[in-house]
Amino acid sequence: MRTSEIVRRLRASFASRFGGADEVVLVRAPGRVNLIGDHTDYNEGFVLPTTLDRAVYTAVRTRRDRTVVLYASHFDEEVQYALDDRPATRSGSWESYVTGAVEELRREGRLDHGFEMLVYGDVPLGAGLSSSAALEVSVVYALDVLFDLDLDPVHAVRLCQSVEHRYAGVECGIMDQFVSRLGRSGSAMLLDCRSLAYRHEPLELRRSGHALVIVDSLVSRGLAETKYGERRAECVRAVAAARNAHPGVESLRDVTPQMLEAQRGIMSEAVYKRARHVLDENDRVLRAAEALLDGGYERFGRLMNASHRSLRDLFEVSCAELDTLAAAAQAVEGVLGARMTGGGFGGCTVNLVRADSVVRLTTLLTEAYDNEYGRKPAFYVLDQSYETEVL
Ligand code: GLA
Repeated sequence: MRTSEIVRRLRASFASRFGGADEVVLVRAPGRVNLIGDHTDYNEGFVLPTTLDRAVYTAVRTRRDRTVVLYASHFDEEVQYALDDRPATRSGSWESYVTGAVEELRREGRLDHGFEMLVYGDVPLGAGLSSSAALEVSVVYALDVLFDLDLDPVHAVRLCQSVEHRYAGVECGIMDQFVSRLGRSGSAMLLDCRSLAYRHEPLELRRSGHALVIVDSLVSRGLAETKYGERRAECVRAVAAARNAHPGVESLRDVTPQMLEAQRGIMSEAVYKRARHVLDENDRVLRAAEALLDGGYERFGRLMNASHRSLRDLFEVSCAELDTLAAAAQAVEGVLGARMTGGGFGGCTVNLVRADSVVRLTTLLTEAYDNEYGRKPAFYVLDQSYETEVL
């Protein structure tokens, strides 16, 4: 749907819910797909995500009193409460993210009025495309604009990340919220998760005759239900082992391949493999970013394939469905690279494809997936990437 049509519909549904749509602030924040660099963010490494043309939209208007009214139009659910009295919510539900974000701002003393808010999103839920990050960023940005808070964007990103930690029980890294808030339309973002320095890398796919195809395995698992926390803990153990010989080591970012090999004997095989993945993946991200800069799409694709192998065999966060989709795609003529993306254990693969091979890819993957699992995957061809903005 075109943006102008979405805006028209959202204003209409805001008006019918709350009476009129004057003085409404309307913003959107996109979901993301990570092109390469997974399980590196919480190890102070590098990531290279891009935003989607799917987003969470928030329409909001001030009230005179201190009542907060939240309405999720795609669920047709409403929550109402007094600003100073956040209600109990089910962890991971839409209202847990929204009330969590509101609470974080209130605790910082930023909110002195109630408001009525409508949220709507078209980022697929539970697909690993960061619908929750988009929701947090969208809500915080809408309140930022509405109340003239002038929030520092990186502070806003951290606030959104802490919503995941505190209200959804997910100790995620910073990638999803960061790219949703600060990613730029038409670009991928090379982000250093240690310094938080970032660079926008132009993604000139169409012009160069390429496309990004996201394939949803429809295996849906929230991070809280996966081994995400266990993997984080294994990385911490690898850091502790490296610190034995090198007291200055603070994260895997400080560990070189030589240091890791030298300490291999004092860590379990699993811990060694996790660390090995992170070190190699950081290197792949930097090489992939260079490849993007000089139009080296073939090289980029090979790095994606290597990343998938590493996530499957070393970090062990893939699953049979994702492996089937990646392997089947890699065998298709015109596919440059295919890998699982995001936290893993379900969700999506991302595929770099020659534009003239998109139909062949979707046809063959549908067949392969159906043969193996008796159902079809869902496809999203990335037409453009949005950025967080006022509409
Ligand atoms: C999830 C988390 C991110 C990141 C990825 C894996 O998406 O939210 O912070 O750790 O998994 O790269």
